[in-house]
Amino acid sequence: MSFPDMRLRRLRATAALRGLVRETELSPSRLIAPLFVASIGEPVDSMPGVSRLTISGVVAAAGDLAALGVPGVLLFGIPDHKDGEGSGAWDDEGPVQLAVRAIKSAHPGLVVMTDVCLCEYTTHGHCGVVRDDGTIDNDASLELLARTAISHARAGADVIAPSDMMDGRVGAIRAELDAEGFAELPILAYAAKFASAFYGPFREAAGSTPEFGDRRSYQLDPANAREALRETELDIAEGADIVMIKPALAYLDVIAAVRAITRLPVAAYNVSGEYAMVKAAVASGAFDERAVVLETLTAIRRAGADMIITYHAEDAARWLAQT
Ligand code: PBG
Repeated sequence: MSFPDMRLRRLRATAALRGLVRETELSPSRLIAPLFVASIGEPVDSMPGVSRLTISGVVAAAGDLAALGVPGVLLFGIPDHKDGEGSGAWDDEGPVQLAVRAIKSAHPGLVVMTDVCLCEYTTHGHCGVVRDDGTIDNDASLELLARTAISHARAGADVIAPSDMMDGRVGAIRAELDAEGFAELPILAYAAKFASAFYGPFREAAGSTPEFGDRRSYQLDPANAREALRETELDIAEGADIVMIKPALAYLDVIAAVRAITRLPVAAYNVSGEYAMVKAAVASGAFDERAVVLETLTAIRRAGADMIITYHAEDAARWLAQT
């Protein structure tokens, strides 16, 4: 059948009809808010509307999110001191560990996820152990990442989210969690994490820009979708409970491809640069923020993401409550 017998506009005639045939729903229940924890609270210049938060600030933000129906937060720590190893990452009194305890005691129902990586804690800003020749020692990094995960687990984290992109880290973290009595703690793996220029504003927020070189020896080449599926399959084989694609908008094809190869829940990270672009365009009057944010998040869901990590979470949840 084709036109004039088939008329697709018939089902677009009213809001009620459009609602009945809508294929993708966006709800606050699918959103996760990234939060930066530091000893001093201050705005992040590169990300209008985002701040580094103190422990009490992060507890208040978590409460606001929970009240809006956002079920989860993803914590990043900004330590006062960095060293060559990144030992602050597994400090039981570090910013993430303190924030996890404070949020869980104030808002026990909120899902507290923690980013496991070394880059915010190392002087060199890389995500793993750096050898004398400047290369990254994959296998030596695994133990430090697993140690960090255990410290987060002990603090009471609900989900462990490794973002370093070392080979074997999901398996190493799973084994260590199981050995330490955390067999029931899920791992959300940054499975297909690309070496992206869209992380720029985050690195300013987290102070994690590499001192030398870049992350291309561990994060995926933006040109490679098949390799992204291999990364995802590897993380699944190592025991990931949720797989993530990051960034989201320039990688919607990868989200769809991952959705097609696995029955695991799929997450997408709508990253700092994607957020900053929207904010800049809104500031210049280019478009309506609410419409663009809800359209963007719907598109990420349509591509196949069950859940979205986004700096727009609080605004989006508020807008969704008004619709
Ligand atoms: C740490 C990490 C990064 C992001 C999440 N975890 C930065 C990076 O890999 O350089 C980026 C998040 C964002 O841009 O919003 N490895």
